[in-house]
Formats: sequence, structure tokens, C-alpha cells
Amino acid sequence: MGRYGIFIIAYFLGAIPFAYLAGRVKKVDVRKQGSGNMGTTNAFRLLGVKWGIAVLLGDALKGALAAGLGYSFWGPWGGIIGGLLAMAGHSWNPFFGFKPSGKGVASGFGTILVLMPKITLLAVILFIAVVYFTRYVSMGSVVGALTLLVCVFIFHEPTAYCVFAVVASLLVVLRHRTNFQRVLNGTENRFGEKK
Ligand code: G3P
Repeated sequence: MGRYGIFIIAYFLGAIPFAYLAGRVKKVDVRKQGSGNMGTTNAFRLLGVKWGIAVLLGDALKGALAAGLGYSFWGPWGGIIGGLLAMAGHSWNPFFGFKPSGKGVASGFGTILVLMPKITLLAVILFIAVVYFTRYVSMGSVVGALTLLVCVFIFHEPTAYCVFAVVASLLVVLRHRTNFQRVLNGTENRFGEKK
């Protein structure tokens, strides 16, 4: 498989559907309830805090592993390609016909935690602030992604990390289009609300 094989591993790591698997254990199909998204937030919403935390750790870990693996073989560019492939595997899952699945936030979080820990801290602080004041996790995710985008340029991060920030934040914003629509309609689920 060679050194390129790690990118295949990164993609399939990203495709491990932790939210779906946790749902199977609890006999809840996360694709059919709540937001229908196979991600951490919907796991919290439908399966409770313990399972939500487990899915968050799993999803973040797969991004972190993919980025770490890529970095260890290829340096910063390998790190970002590994992270982006994990986000892609999570967001368009090969085990579910490549249909839009997760939104790449937790796997992206794991990726930047490995590659840019200080910026991750800032993004997490803003994420928490937005969720605290609006109780919209989706809007916290979008603000977190935009924080990353702004910070890579403010802190003059390497080109590879700037490219990651542009692509990843675009992906996160685009994958939240339905959330924006629901916020505008007043139908977006707020954190802690039963669905
Ligand atoms: O990470 C996904 C989150 O930002 C939104 O999830 O389930 O509310 O669409 P959801």
C-alpha cells in the first residue's frame, strides 16, 4: 500500500459512523430522527449525554488519527489531507451510498486539535459562547469554523494550514445550509430541547 495508503486509511477512519453505531445500540436510527444527521449533536439529542460524549470522542479521534497519521508520513500537507479525507469520509459516507451524512465538525475539531492546538482553543471558546447564548449548536459550529479561517491568517500559519482552514470552513458552512434555513424559520432545535 505504501505511504499513500495512509490516505485511504484516513478516509475510511472518517467513515466510521459512530453516531449511527451508537444509535444501533440504543435502537434509534439517527438518520430518521432529530436532524437526521449522523453526527455528534444528533447523538446528544437522541441518545443522551453519555452516548453523545462517546460519539464526540470517537468522531474527534478519527479526525485526530487521520491528521496525525498524514502528518507523520508527509508533514503539514499530509496532516491536512488526512484531516480533510476524514471529514469527507464522515460527511459523504461510503457505507451509506455517499449520501450527505455527518457535517464534519467533530472530525474537523480532532484534526485541528492535532495540527493547531492554540487556534482550536480559541475556536472552542467561541463555539461554547455561541451555543451558550443562542443554544444553537449548528451556529456554534459555523462560528468555530469561521474562527479557524480568520485565525490561520492572523497567526500566519503555514500555507497548508491556511488551505485546510479555507476548505474545511467552506465544507462546514455548506453542510449547515439546512440549519441556516431552520434558524430563519424558527424551527432549529435548541441544545437541551427534547426532539
Ligand atoms: O456538528 C453538527 C452540528 O453543528 C449541527 O448538527 O444535528 O443540529 O444538524 P444538527
